[in-house]
Amino acid sequence: MRNLLQSLTRRPDRPATSPSTLAPPINDMQVSIKTPAEQEQMRIAGRLAADVLDMIEPYIVPGVTTEELDRRCHEYIVDVQQAVPAPLNYRGFPKSICTSVNHVVCHGIPTPEKRLKQGDIINVDITVIKDGWHGDTSRTFAVGKIAPAAQRLVDITREAMWVGIRQIRPGARLGDLGAAIQGFVEPQHLSIVREYCGHGIGRIFHEDPQVLHYGERGRGLELQPGMIFTVEPMVNAGKRHVRLLPDGWTVITKDHSLSAQWEHTVLVTDSGYEVLTLGAAER
Ligand code: MF3
Ligand code: CO
Ligand code: CO
Repeated sequence: MRNLLQSLTRRPDRPATSPSTLAPPINDMQVSIKTPAEQEQMRIAGRLAADVLDMIEPYIVPGVTTEELDRRCHEYIVDVQQAVPAPLNYRGFPKSICTSVNHVVCHGIPTPEKRLKQGDIINVDITVIKDGWHGDTSRTFAVGKIAPAAQRLVDITREAMWVGIRQIRPGARLGDLGAAIQGFVEPQHLSIVREYCGHGIGRIFHEDPQVLHYGERGRGLELQPGMIFTVEPMVNAGKRHVRLLPDGWTVITKDHSLSAQWEHTVLVTDSGYEVLTLGAAER
């Protein structure tokens, strides 16, 4: 997901082919509308990203290391899908997937030392590039049997993502999506992370708009057919505040409470939305 503070002070990434003289001023939103042919490319990339999550799920068991999950995903993306794992070397990220365990909110780095144990929750976040187009999706998995409070957090976070997605249609505003998620999550005494958000996606991994998971109905960008962006709420069992570890990537909850996240890449259609990253069981 995109870091809000960073993106407020930095221009969005631009394709190498875009002359920098055409880059807009800071904070000038440049939301691309994908053509039908581009939407088809994004369907392909989205399906591949979801296929990686389907592939890796049976390996998420007590005793496995996050490094082994990374290796399996990397090999599948490169050798089977003939695609590219987008995180690898992205702004210096060292691995091909993100693995965020328990109190890690997002951008966890796979390592050979991190061994999963019964009762953990782990978000696996996959982004693939196929023929230049990105598909981005994540799910939070249970490792063996988990505590009822952990299961409740995972389930509410997944539903929060869907509550947001169901707001998407031409004429709706991004604030409708954020307000719906906030109105669903906060009354259940869970908190929404504010420093990271969903993002436009296409040839560029993180592009405009920023998709906040909280907000006010009627505010923000008006959605149009052909826009593609992610919805990826991070929800904490404790307070919403986060801390960045010295590795420059790993984001944890300040109070060390559990955190969950789910993510889909979604197209705005003429009548509503199309989720581009459904798993095989949901298609
Ligand atoms: N996939 C993440 C997202 O949802 C971004 C990961 S960037 C990385 O936007 F560099 F940490 F991999
Ligand atoms: Co994302
Ligand atoms: Co992601």
